[in-house]
Amino acid sequence: MTRFTVNDRPVQYRMDPETPLLWALRDASNLTGTKYGCGTGDCGACTVDIDGEAVRSCQVTIGKTEGRFVTTIEALSPDRGHPLQQAFAADNVSQCGYCIPGMIMAASVLLRRTNDPSDEEIDGAITNICRCGIYPRLRGAIKRAG
Ligand code: FES
Repeated sequence: MTRFTVNDRPVQYRMDPETPLLWALRDASNLTGTKYGCGTGDCGACTVDIDGEAVRSCQVTIGKTEGRFVTTIEALSPDRGHPLQQAFAADNVSQCGYCIPGMIMAASVLLRRTNDPSDEEIDGAITNICRCGIYPRLRGAIKRAG
């Protein structure tokens, strides 16, 4: 059994410790805001916050998550009132929207480090891939939220 904390709640998974965190979150905890894109650590659609770091949840096993604190997009704010969520909506950042939860989770980690990130800092921190090409609006919304 693997135990850790997800969105401020203790969880126990009776699954193979080698199970990717992404699938435990989606299939066992029904936290489907965290998306599957590539499964290889490249796209960032599966990004969650683990102990204050942006982590691609397809690349970390639940065994390696033992005892840690995981936050998913569902818990970023209870009413979608987080400044990033408001800025993304106000600036119409989303196109298809599939990558947005991972983008917001990566951006939330960045904004805890600096509330006035440069374009270079944003590009360095947000390595998530968007096939719709939202990057210019993404930078603007992150700066607005900061
Ligand atoms: Fe994890 Fe693409 S699904 S990085």
